[in-house]
Amino acid sequence: MAEIGSDIERAISLLKAGELVAIPTETVYGLAGNALNSAAVAKIFEAKNRPHFDPLIMHVPGPDAAGLYAASIPDKARELASRFWPGPLTLVLPKKDLVPDLTSAGLDTVGIRCPDHPLTRQLLKELPFPLAAPSANPFGYVSPTTAKHVDQQLGSRISYILDGGACDIGIESTIVGFEDSHPVIYRFGGLSMEAIEAVVGPLQTRAHSTSNPRAPGQLKSHYAPGKRIVLGEITSLQNISAYRNAAIISFQVDYGASYQIVLSPDGSLHEAARNLFSALRQVDAFPVDVVLAELVPNEGIGRAINDRLSRAAAAIV
Ligand code: TXA
Ligand code: MG
Repeated sequence: MAEIGSDIERAISLLKAGELVAIPTETVYGLAGNALNSAAVAKIFEAKNRPHFDPLIMHVPGPDAAGLYAASIPDKARELASRFWPGPLTLVLPKKDLVPDLTSAGLDTVGIRCPDHPLTRQLLKELPFPLAAPSANPFGYVSPTTAKHVDQQLGSRISYILDGGACDIGIESTIVGFEDSHPVIYRFGGLSMEAIEAVVGPLQTRAHSTSNPRAPGQLKSHYAPGKRIVLGEITSLQNISAYRNAAIISFQVDYGASYQIVLSPDGSLHEAARNLFSALRQVDAFPVDVVLAELVPNEGIGRAINDRLSRAAAAIV
């Protein structure tokens, strides 16, 4: 078990010593280390059991800091940063040499984001370096949205968990890269595609790649919980005899099952996003064979929810 608290000074001294600290963000908890120190970054890969080809996101205190690590910033990236940072948006930009190859997994680009959480913003402002932080879960598993989730899975591998409460958004950042200066979505996330398009115009998407992905988080079978997830129309699935002993994850409707999680009784996509990863963890503990789940409306943050549900369902368990 790791030490859990809200002592920023303790987090600072550990990070300065090259140790790992789990940090709260508005999306999910991150497993943070000094992004400019290859030894600290190596510890992140080891603690998560993450393959070295999967690059990390660098967290910075504000839009100005992006220029310290990005070799160039397209105009549209500048517009997006000034409009949405701090917030759930990661920009993939050409990297400067001072960013270690380990952080960017050998790519010539680096993902940069400015998280919107008061504790972590203060931490980033006080630190003399940016933080590399993937989601604080073992590779391939569901991301943590509370300090307790982090402790349950990685507690024995990290020194300190900075507890900033439950994550407000609950789903990872939207990742946007630039191809010939045109913005492309690599991962649906907490910032809606509609909000981004309102600033920079129509976007291309390149999410859901199954082979040789540009962002390995795009692997189709990511976000695997411990139970098999079957996606579809719940009432039809309930009629199938193999699915008799099932738990249900629904968006808004109460299906009257014994083991059931309704993501948002009010039909709010934001509430559903906030509850999704906890729900996926909870169903793991239910005494059922399988989990039946339904997609949510494919708009706004609903796209990210559907993306994570689809990938959880594609996982082999
Ligand atoms: O909300 C978030 O983004 C959270 C919090 C902690 O900030 N972080 C997060 O990190 O989700 P991670 O490592 O679990 O997912 C980051 C994704 C990975 O799929 C990685 O492949 C992709 O970002 N990525 C990072 N750098 C990239 C790059 N240079 N080009 C393309 N994809 C990149
Ligand atoms: Mg992750």
